[in-house]
Amino acid sequence: MRRLLITGGAGFIGVNFVYYWLKEHPDDRVVVLDALTYAGNRESVREAERNPHFQFVHGNILNQPLVEQLLRDEQLDTIVHFAAESHVDRSITGPDAFIETNIVGTHSLLKAARQIWLEERKGAGPFRFHHVSTDEVYGTLGRGDAPFCEDTPYAPNSPYAASKASSDHLVRAYHETYGLPVSISNCSNNYGPFQFPEKLIPLTIINALHNKPLPIYGDGKQIRDWLYVRDHCRGIAMVMDAEQTGECFNIGGINEWENIDIVTLICDLLDERFAKNPALASRFPLATKLHAGKSRDLITFIKDRPGHDRRYAIDPTKAQKVLGYEPDETFASGIRKTLDWYLDNEPWWRPLLDAGYSEWIARQYN
Ligand code: NAD
Ligand code: DAU
Repeated sequence: MRRLLITGGAGFIGVNFVYYWLKEHPDDRVVVLDALTYAGNRESVREAERNPHFQFVHGNILNQPLVEQLLRDEQLDTIVHFAAESHVDRSITGPDAFIETNIVGTHSLLKAARQIWLEERKGAGPFRFHHVSTDEVYGTLGRGDAPFCEDTPYAPNSPYAASKASSDHLVRAYHETYGLPVSISNCSNNYGPFQFPEKLIPLTIINALHNKPLPIYGDGKQIRDWLYVRDHCRGIAMVMDAEQTGECFNIGGINEWENIDIVTLICDLLDERFAKNPALASRFPLATKLHAGKSRDLITFIKDRPGHDRRYAIDPTKAQKVLGYEPDETFASGIRKTLDWYLDNEPWWRPLLDAGYSEWIARQYN
């Protein structure tokens, strides 16, 4: 039995991990610590809150005394650290929050874990600090380059990527210097339920439903390696169970797509859904063009993201060989599930639009 602290558990991947874990390990204790920034959503964890093994704590990872108290009082033996500022565009317009949460916040958590697990409990574990990181720390690839592997040198290009790289180094240093039992996973782009609609896939779906432009940065030929979020959660669970501590694992989908092709695919799938289900037209009356199978007309090329990485791709060999990890979901099924989730869960995303996300998006593109 494990007793987990999940930071950022009201965000996209964190909440998917919460539901994954509660299902797979129904007897474990799960405590979520989340500051509920614009990207955190208490509604996402409502169902989990009905489970007596689950506890939601509204708080900041920078609050070291709070984290120490949780580790001590709840006797937590595992930290799964998702909490972060995660959107590259926001890191370009306002990097400070990224430094504060991703670097200083991660360090604060490490200090708390060291204090409680190594000092107070004298290392009488097993304990595990699992740090959730990104492939963006490796920088960018050309079309013919070999995918990122665990010993690809770090070369982060955005303030977001640099802040994640810095946090990875701190986690590693706490293992080497103090013997904190850590693991790190560096994953490629996730998609699936509960993703905040500023990221490419949910933004495209929701803008199309409102007959709004679908913004494509630059020429749209940048490549990302997409992984269904549940497969990321499974991968994290496998890394957390790896016997050897201090190890990093890359997790990816072996599923490279140009941005323009992803957006075009979503347009076509939406057209198909509207053609088959006339009730959708009355639920989303602004999506007029979708009836005529013309949502591709909404695609709008706009100025490129500064420092935009051209290609990400993961070499999953280590995770395959050491952990036996393979993604379960195909992209064909995962993208349809995701689309249907957004169509079926308007009450989840509608308040986010009303709370100002669209104003932020509009400022960004004008
Ligand atoms: P997200 O932005 O959807 O969620 C982040 C969560 O962290 C939110 O609930 C937010 O309220 C919380 N949070 C932010 N600052 C906090 C603080 N100071 N204290 C406590 N909570 C705070 O992010 P996501 O997409 O779910 O990403 C989760 C993690 O996975 C991040 O570390 C990210 O770098 C990493 N990652 C994301 C992807 C991806 O494709 N989304 C891919 C690889 C790695
Ligand atoms: O690779 C892992 C990373 O994936 C994570 O570490 C980040 O937290 C996560 O946000 C994601 O970063 P990206 O920048 O790749 O994701 P985003 O959804 O913002 O953009 C995906 C691609 O689509 C990217 O090349 C930029 C482009 N894009 C994005 C948006 C929002 C567009 O062309 N138009 C858009 O409107």
